[in-house]
Amino acid sequence: MILGLMQNRRSIRRFKTEAPPDADIRKLIEAAVAAPSATNKQPWRFLIAKEKKHFKIISGAVDKARRNLIASISPEYQSEFSNYSVHFMSFQNAPIVILPIYRAFQGISALVKKSLPEKEMAFLRQYEHDTALMGVSLAIQNILLMIEEIGLGACCMTGPLIARGEMEKGLQVPKGWQIAAVIAVGYPDEKPEPPGRKELEMVTRWL
Ligand SMILES: Cc1cc2nc3c(=O)[nH]c(=O)nc-3n(C[C@H](O)[C@H](O)[C@H](O)COP(=O)(O)O)c2cc1C
Repeated sequence: MILGLMQNRRSIRRFKTEAPPDADIRKLIEAAVAAPSATNKQPWRFLIAKEKKHFKIISGAVDKARRNLIASISPEYQSEFSNYSVHFMSFQNAPIVILPIYRAFQGISALVKKSLPEKEMAFLRQYEHDTALMGVSLAIQNILLMIEEIGLGACCMTGPLIARGEMEKGLQVPKGWQIAAVIAVGYPDEKPEPPGRKELEMVTRWL
């Protein structure tokens, strides 16, 4: 049952050293591209990092951004943030990292007259950006479910995006594309307890 798969999936942050075969990673991408997207634009690409040099670029960038942030936080919150932001680095011991990237679809904003007030243009650009991010997010969820289905483990992370610009530069992400998340992938080396969810009554409002 798909509901069981969704409910049993857990974020995994500790992995065995052995890397899953490329064939399994292909299955994950196959699942990703089955996701729906606005106007079927499929505004996604997937970078697969397996080599040490790529991990070095990603963790170097995140660690630097994290240290900069810690230095700029008021002293009384520094140690709390320092402990919390360790979770931005949970991808470090994974054998594989998938970086889904996305690009805003310039549909309406390219068609409207240049005389449109800047505020409305900004709204359209944001709308187009959010639409693309929605598409790639659905692709990411497909990856996470497929990971559960084939017995792998993963953690989808946006914490590392504090270093998004630096990661994009280091990994030569094409202009106009943005990293949506860092997904650590491997064989699970932990079995976390379910962290629980809010009650349906609390999150639902029948209109
Ligand atoms: C958009 C998004 C961003 C996340 N970012 C991080 C992160 O930076 N570091 C981390 O350790 N976990 C991250 N997580 C994992 C969440 O902490 C996790 O999904 C949540 O605690 C619920 O646990 P579960 O996935 O096991 O159900 C992220 C999850 C999502 C969906």
